[in-house]
Amino acid sequence: MTYRAKTRLIQVDPHHPQAEVVEYAAAVIRSGGLVAFPTETVYGLGASALDGAAVARIFEAKGRPASDPLIVHIADLDQLAQVARDIPPLAETLAEQFWPGPLTLVLRKRAAIPTTVTAGRETVAVRMPAHPVALALIRAAGPIAAPSANRFARPSPTRAGHVMDDLSGRIDVVLDGGPVPIGVESTVLNLTTRPPAVLRPGGTPLEALREFIPDVRVETRYLQTGSTEALAPGMMLKHYSPEAEVLLFDGPREAVLIRMVRAARELTAVGRRVGVMAPDDDLTAFAGLAVETAPLGEEADLPGVAQALFNALRDLDSRGVEVILARGLAREGLGLAIWDRLLRSAEGRVITVEE
Ligand code: TXA
Ligand code: MG
Repeated sequence: MTYRAKTRLIQVDPHHPQAEVVEYAAAVIRSGGLVAFPTETVYGLGASALDGAAVARIFEAKGRPASDPLIVHIADLDQLAQVARDIPPLAETLAEQFWPGPLTLVLRKRAAIPTTVTAGRETVAVRMPAHPVALALIRAAGPIAAPSANRFARPSPTRAGHVMDDLSGRIDVVLDGGPVPIGVESTVLNLTTRPPAVLRPGGTPLEALREFIPDVRVETRYLQTGSTEALAPGMMLKHYSPEAEVLLFDGPREAVLIRMVRAARELTAVGRRVGVMAPDDDLTAFAGLAVETAPLGEEADLPGVAQALFNALRDLDSRGVEVILARGLAREGLGLAIWDRLLRSAEGRVITVEE
C-alpha cells in the first residue's frame, strides 16, 4: 500500500513565515499527514515524531528502508527533555553553542518516541534547526521527525522544486521557502559512545566540534578509504546518487584537470553524454568540448560550493548526461561534508591522480 496524496505546494516567507501558512501545515502534521519544509541545511519531510503511523508514511513516501532511523526536530530545550533522557552535560554545552543549527545529537531515547522513528534503536537523533519556517512549524505542531525530503538514495533537496520532483503525489504539503542557505545536511554526532563520534560530517565543521570534544572520532570509514562497509545506519556508500554515474577525480588541481579533460574527450568521442561539476575556474579547461557544465562558484568559497552541490547534481541529471565528472576539493571545514557527499554520489569511484 502506497500513501497517495494530492500535494499542495504553498509559498512561505523564509524569514517571516505567515501565521496562517504555518497553522495550516501544523494542522496537517497534527492529523498524521506529511509536510516538506525548508531547514537551513536541506528540505525535510516531516511527520509528528510522536505518531508512529504518520512516521511510517515517511518511509513509504521516500522508499526508505525501515532500518534507517530519522532525526527528531525540536524548537526548544523543553522538547529535548521530552524526546531524550540521561542527557549528558556535554549535550547541553553543545546545544548552547550550536543550536539552533546544523548539528544532530544522538542521545538515549524516551519511551514517548515510537520505535518507527529510531528504527528500533534505544537512541534518538535530535536537532534544533535554525530556519524560521522549521522552528515555527515545530512550535505549532510539536517535535517533528524528518529525514531529507528526497526519494531514497537521490541527492538531498535544496529547493522546493527538488521535493516536488521526487515526492509529488506522495505527500500532503510542500512549503516553498526558496533555496536553503547551507545545502548539505547536519553533522550527526553520537554522544552515547566514548569518545563521541561523528557519524556523518555536515554543516557543523569537525574543527568546531574539536574545540569542545578534543578526542572526537570520525566513524565514517569510507571517508578515508572508500570502503563500502556501513558503520552507521544510513551511511551506505550508495547515497545521494543522481541517475548519471559520477566519477570523482582527486589529486593536485592541475594534474587532475588534465586527467578530467582527457576523460571528457574520451567519453564524448564514444558518444557518451558528459557533465562536468566543478568550481567556475575549472570550467574554462573544458571549453570547446561537447560537455554540459554545472558551476559550483569560487573554489575557495566552500559554503557557496556546498549550497550549489546537490542542485548541480540534479541539474546535470535533468540535462540527460550519463557521466558526471567531479573534482575533490579541500577537506577542511565544510569541505569534509562536500567530499563525503561527492564520494557517496560517486559510490566510491575515486580516480586518484598523482603529480
Ligand atoms: O540536516 C539534516 O540533518 C536534514 C534536515 C532535514 O534536518 N535531515 C537529514 O535526515 O539529513 P536524514 O534522515 O536524511 O539523515 C539522518 C541521518 C541518517 O544517516 C541516519 O542514519 C542518522 O541520521 N541517524 C538517525 N538516527 C540515528 C540514531 N539513533 N543513531 C545513529 N544514526 C542515526
Ligand atoms: Mg537523507
